[in-house]
Amino acid sequence: MKIVLIFVSTLDGKVTKWGDPHVQTWSSQKDHDYFQKTWNDSQIIIMGSNTFNIEPPKLSKDHILIVMTTHLSDYKNKEVLGQVEFTNEAPKALISRLREARYERVLVVGGPHISTSFLKDGLIDELWLTIEPKIFGLGGNFVIEEKLDISLHLDGYEKVNKQGTLILRYTIIK
Ligand SMILES: NC(=O)c1ccc[n+]([C@@H]2O[C@H](COP(=O)([O-])OP(=O)(O)OC[C@H]3O[C@@H](n4cnc5c(N)ncnc54)[C@H](OP(=O)(O)O)[C@@H]3O)[C@@H](O)[C@H]2O)c1
Repeated sequence: MKIVLIFVSTLDGKVTKWGDPHVQTWSSQKDHDYFQKTWNDSQIIIMGSNTFNIEPPKLSKDHILIVMTTHLSDYKNKEVLGQVEFTNEAPKALISRLREARYERVLVVGGPHISTSFLKDGLIDELWLTIEPKIFGLGGNFVIEEKLDISLHLDGYEKVNKQGTLILRYTIIK
């Protein structure tokens, strides 16, 4: 089972513009298409409750969305069997449950709190990062301020539009 972390970022490492939580207002059409395809091709998608609450994603019978929260009771009425579930499992426990079910690809879509938890626990295999040629100065990074020391290997990159949006794929060196 491959665990992929995916983010879109600016050149100065911002994954949000100033205080605006909506990413699609500044990311490119090419990134939207790439993200949508990656989402559709993943059997399991994991996100944090903050990212879920910004704009709850469209559900589908083709994959299971797993939302991480410590406030399970707040989400009881949002659960849809086989489409969206809410969990208070720790990242390691969640991933070992998913490994038993032998899913091919698990996509971790953030936000920064969730990605930091997964990276700290050494659970991410690959980082798929889109870099938009923009600089915002103010905004969040895709990890929160924590001491991390992670090395990666660049497996491939592609320039996907005229402006120079780059899609990069890295493996986490373990
Ligand atoms: N540019 C991009 O590609 C991209 C992608 C995704 C998100 N974002 C941005 O990121 C922002 C949201 O990110 P965020 O970091 O604030 O929130 P987040 O990572 O989406 O969610 C964090 C929340 O998840 C819950 N949680 C449950 N288990 C956890 C665990 N083990 N570790 C950490 N959190 C856990 C906690 O909420 P409870 O109180 O529910 O327990 C926690 O506050 C938004 O502005 C969004 O636009 C950007």
